[in-house]
Amino acid sequence: MKQKVLVVDDDAAILEVLEMRLTAMGFDVTATSDPRKALEATEAGRFDLALLDLRMEPTDGMRLMEGLHQRQPRLPVLIMTAHGTIQTAVEAVRRGAFDYLTKPFVRDELRSKIARTLATRRWARDRERLLTVGQALASSGVMARVLDSVAQATVEATDADRCVVFQLEQGRLVPMASAGSPPPVWTRLEAAASAAMDKGIPITVSGAAEGADTGTIVAAPLVVQRGPAGALVIETAARLEPGEDDLELLALFSSQAAIAIRNTHDLESLKSGAVAALGRMATQVAHEVKNPLAGLRLYVRHLEQHLAKVDDAAGRDLAGKIAVTVDHLTSVVAEITAFGRPPELHRVPTALHPLLDECLELARARRPTEGVDIVTAYDPSCPDARLDARELKKAFLNLILNALEALEGAGRLTVATAYSAATGTVTVTIEDTGPGMTEETLSRAFDLFFTTKPDGTGLGMSIARSVVNLHAGELTVSSRVGEGTRVQARLPLEPSPDSPRAPGAGA
Ligand SMILES: Nc1ncnc2c1ncn2[C@@H]1O[C@H](COP(=O)(O)OP(=O)(O)OP(=O)(O)O)[C@@H](O)[C@H]1O
Ligand SMILES: [Mg+2]
Repeated sequence: MKQKVLVVDDDAAILEVLEMRLTAMGFDVTATSDPRKALEATEAGRFDLALLDLRMEPTDGMRLMEGLHQRQPRLPVLIMTAHGTIQTAVEAVRRGAFDYLTKPFVRDELRSKIARTLATRRWARDRERLLTVGQALASSGVMARVLDSVAQATVEATDADRCVVFQLEQGRLVPMASAGSPPPVWTRLEAAASAAMDKGIPITVSGAAEGADTGTIVAAPLVVQRGPAGALVIETAARLEPGEDDLELLALFSSQAAIAIRNTHDLESLKSGAVAALGRMATQVAHEVKNPLAGLRLYVRHLEQHLAKVDDAAGRDLAGKIAVTVDHLTSVVAEITAFGRPPELHRVPTALHPLLDECLELARARRPTEGVDIVTAYDPSCPDARLDARELKKAFLNLILNALEALEGAGRLTVATAYSAATGTVTVTIEDTGPGMTEETLSRAFDLFFTTKPDGTGLGMSIARSVVNLHAGELTVSSRVGEGTRVQARLPLEPSPDSPRAPGAGA
């Protein structure tokens, strides 16, 4: 089957040349000078590639691209213009174009960019698939969640309207996960699932063939060792026939869902193994990066000094920016290598309240706190104890920073302690009145490298938990969207020999 290319240019001569060249290259070409016709064409059928002129009246190429992407989100777009500047190229790619072509076309540039776009698209799809597996493994390990992410990725990668994963339970097909818009009728999806399971191969039920005003359904069986365990079903709008690519992808996704079902019980151990391996790899990479970074830092300092001497203010400013970025990288690397350290504590007699005050002080220096009401409520009965002050400082600092980052300069941050003499434990509470976390975020907050922040590394919570766990304590989080977040660290206290109020020494 020929791959379909859409070309839109308001210059009739160029349009004609492009149509000829692309047809000669073996494509099925739709060429038009009318952006509205282009939008209609994407509604009528799927394209593999679009070439759009940047400057057109009344809709320019970027606007048209956005319209096309609303109709076919993953359509690769090449933007063409006679007035190429780096700025427009960057802008086009930032807004979702795959690449950029300058007119007149240089010999072979057209052919090579198109080839690259079509090849990369496949690769991007594969990468997405890998990402899904990774995310599924890193998530809680509950099968429903894995199936959810498989359904979600299926919808995204195939442009289907919806995806439902059915599982056979005591002879009945139960929808276990779904993504995309809710199905108007479940019965057709269930029937397709059942037919695919009977046949043992993916099947297509065309809406048009049934004379119904519904979409095309494709169902792939989920085959585990003992036979079909369910089916993965997608539905697309009636006008879109799923291509070979879609069928192939669906088979891959369904095999993933089947693995998820098979692995339900092993998943927990698999997850911790994968995370440990990931941690080791990250540590090794960080180690390799550390030395060159130190060198880079030195050079940039020299450069800054040099530019200051020759009175080059603009150059010095740039060098300063590089220095800040290098410093940021260095601290990221330092944090990652911290994971490689052997898990042993250096306990020293520690007073918890001054330590918490110090963390607050450090956090204040890093984040704006003018509009934040900082409240401390320390339990005076809390004794000094043998703790690893350095590690705990790192843990509490991360938690306080998270709270301040959540507050974004307004609200209340409370740091409190409560000592229980009966159990010999202290509970440290760090609470904010920020936006809180969604269930999804809450369930993944402790995952290594999970972050919702543009500059985050996603290590803070994992660090905090591992430090508290090393102290044989427990770190828990409760959070509600719109209300705020409360993080509690419960630490058993080993009495400090020189503390007058060590447990058991006084009253
Ligand atoms: N107090 C909080 N309020 C709201 N969301 C939070 C809070 N603390 C953590 N989170 C969520 O948990 C995620 C993980 O936090 P974590 O501290 O591990 O990483 P990070 O803050 O994103 O990055 P970094 O490691 O660089 O601090 C955050 O990105 C955020 O979404
Ligand atoms: Mg953090």
